[in-house]
Amino acid sequence: MNDLSKYNNKLIYKKNKLFLEDVSLNTITKKFDTPIFCYSSTQISNKFNLFRSSFKKIKPLICYAMKANFNSHIIKILAKLGSGVDVVSKGELEKCLINGVEANKVVFSGVGKTEKEIEFALKKKIKQINVESLEELEEIEEICKRLVTKINICLRVNPDVNANTHEKITTGRLEDKFGIPNDKIQRIFEKYNGNKFIKITGLSIHIGSQIESLDPFKNAFTKIRKQILDLKKKGFKILTLDLGGGIGIKYNKDSKIIDIKMYAKLIEKLFSDLGAEVILEPGRYIVGTSGIILTRVIRVKKGTNKNFLIVDAGMNNLLRPALYGAIHNICPVKLKDDKKRISYDVVGPICESSDIFIKDIKLPEVLKDDLIAICSTGAYSSCMASDYNLRPKASEIFVKKNKFIISNN
Ligand SMILES: Cc1ncc(COP(=O)(O)O)c(C=O)c1O
Repeated sequence: MNDLSKYNNKLIYKKNKLFLEDVSLNTITKKFDTPIFCYSSTQISNKFNLFRSSFKKIKPLICYAMKANFNSHIIKILAKLGSGVDVVSKGELEKCLINGVEANKVVFSGVGKTEKEIEFALKKKIKQINVESLEELEEIEEICKRLVTKINICLRVNPDVNANTHEKITTGRLEDKFGIPNDKIQRIFEKYNGNKFIKITGLSIHIGSQIESLDPFKNAFTKIRKQILDLKKKGFKILTLDLGGGIGIKYNKDSKIIDIKMYAKLIEKLFSDLGAEVILEPGRYIVGTSGIILTRVIRVKKGTNKNFLIVDAGMNNLLRPALYGAIHNICPVKLKDDKKRISYDVVGPICESSDIFIKDIKLPEVLKDDLIAICSTGAYSSCMASDYNLRPKASEIFVKKNKFIISNN
């Protein structure tokens, strides 16, 4: 329990007290109310740099999928490191541009872009739109005609591959709403060949999220390589290849982690000979383990067969356990020497039975007002928060070495 380095190597016990970088988490609660999201800025930069430096033969354009966490502090950190961004709404697009991302490094994904959003993206002259249907492409063409402008397009392929991840975050099977089936791609290339407003530069793919093995990537990437070779044979140029995101992170003792160097090697083996620019859209991998939720025990409730730790974070702060059955590791902020372990269900205060973070976790005795940390809440956590039960959203602070700042937007 004491070694948290697999979750976040900036989350460390020093003399039995939990620190994020050089800041004691206990100190943070003297200044701010709980629950509160705390992130290690250094870990965010380190993960981005590690991802980028894993590629030896190609220099991919990394477009951070900001849906994972759209806090402006994160966007600023990544923009300074040269990252592009993958956006899925006008709101995200506006926000990333305000925070220093260059428009020519922005990719617009998503199955339901509205006409207004498309028009906005065209006016901002972003790098490309990843298109999910012929119907969407026809609408983009009409808007381009009206604005007398041209846009680069990648067609998002649905490769019919199961990512073997949670049912609700698998996106690459034919029954999923995403992408264009492989067998319809060539017809669209033919239809738009030489079009004045639409330039199809290549293909994109994203098969799901929290993927814990290389196999689904290998299956999908092999299919997309074949598609590219077929298109090339027909004389179409493939200038861009957007391989999406999806790499999993450590949430609990059972999570399996992909070796990022092997992921990079797989991509280089399959695509480095094609001469296309590779774009990657990692979200969770970059920010997921950087964050924790610091929460206080409101009350220890003894049930008939259970001990409930009722904490002040709820499913409105962290929806993943209720939505996906996700299990986040939980650890005390102050370690006790006591060897005795007690089994607890850690639950939130919200009026829903699904407001449970973890069942039957064995911890040293926890008392009212003790602090605990819920790990790996850097991605798909604060951005999914709501004010359900009219509870305020949790603040977000960013730690760097021995300093921290608050950034709530
Ligand atoms: C098109 C697209 N790209 C990238 C991502 C980021 O995925 P992840 O956070 O798993 O890397 C997503 C997430 O669902 C997505 O839909």
